[in-house]
Amino acid sequence: ALPKEYTDPVRIAVIGGTGLRELPGFTQVATLDITTPWGKPSAPITILHHKCSNNGQDVAVAFLSRHGLHHQIAPHEVPARANIAALRSIGVRTIIAFSAVGSLQEHIKPRDFVVPDQIIDRTKGIRPFTFFEGGAVAHVPFGDPFDERVAKVVRACGHSLEGEGVVLHDRGTLVCMEGPQFSTRAESNLYRSWGGSVINMSALPEAKLAREAEIAYQMICMSTDYDCWHESTEDVTVEMVMGNMKANAVNAKHFVTAVLDELAKDEHAEVVQAKHIAGSVKFGVSTPVP
Ligand code: ADE
Repeated sequence: ALPKEYTDPVRIAVIGGTGLRELPGFTQVATLDITTPWGKPSAPITILHHKCSNNGQDVAVAFLSRHGLHHQIAPHEVPARANIAALRSIGVRTIIAFSAVGSLQEHIKPRDFVVPDQIIDRTKGIRPFTFFEGGAVAHVPFGDPFDERVAKVVRACGHSLEGEGVVLHDRGTLVCMEGPQFSTRAESNLYRSWGGSVINMSALPEAKLAREAEIAYQMICMSTDYDCWHESTEDVTVEMVMGNMKANAVNAKHFVTAVLDELAKDEHAEVVQAKHIAGSVKFGVSTPVP
């Protein structure tokens, strides 16, 4: 059994989605069973050690499985506040979030990767989506929902794996829908007309809560299907999503590992500690100071 405590701060976390429930090649050193004021996260948080390729130092990375250890938590049931609060409580300042997505564009083929830079919110307000309530009022900026500094590192890593078959799209607008049912064809075509690139059920409220917690957050999307707008392929099914995810799992794991290795390098210390956003939320708090 792994230790249940880990006292050094952990700056980097991966939230794994469908198909990315573990990271091989890392040494598990602890598993933390954390309870937050917002309840328990989706799963125990695993602390992994990674030997950084340029300086040989062991860097700690936290791993959290968004849908639980047995993929038992539906997108609208993910305890996102507990997940973000638990990661923040162990020192996390940078999150790489992974997600399977449907493609809304012909040129984004199943098994391609996308580093999104925008989100359109099509969740239905049924998920708890803020830490600020019951008297605490804050309006955090969300014009750029992802962290551009982390995105730059992610894009460079993705392109470095092109020889191994990773196809990467540098930008894109991610539509986050409510689910758990997939979209209708009319909705899918509407999202295309809005300029949507890819669609999932998991980016929100995770990205908003990370922003409120002053954590730098970037999602890596992997396309698993053309959503139902596409006429010459079958409508999306769970089997299709899982099948493509499995077929591309090796690439997904290489990609995430390369990003973690790069972020672990000393030169990215400032990015990883999210110094560029530390303290930003206090300007958004509009609760009167007594
Ligand atoms: N996740 C993977 N494929 C999806 C799709 N087509 N729509 C919503 N979420 C998805």
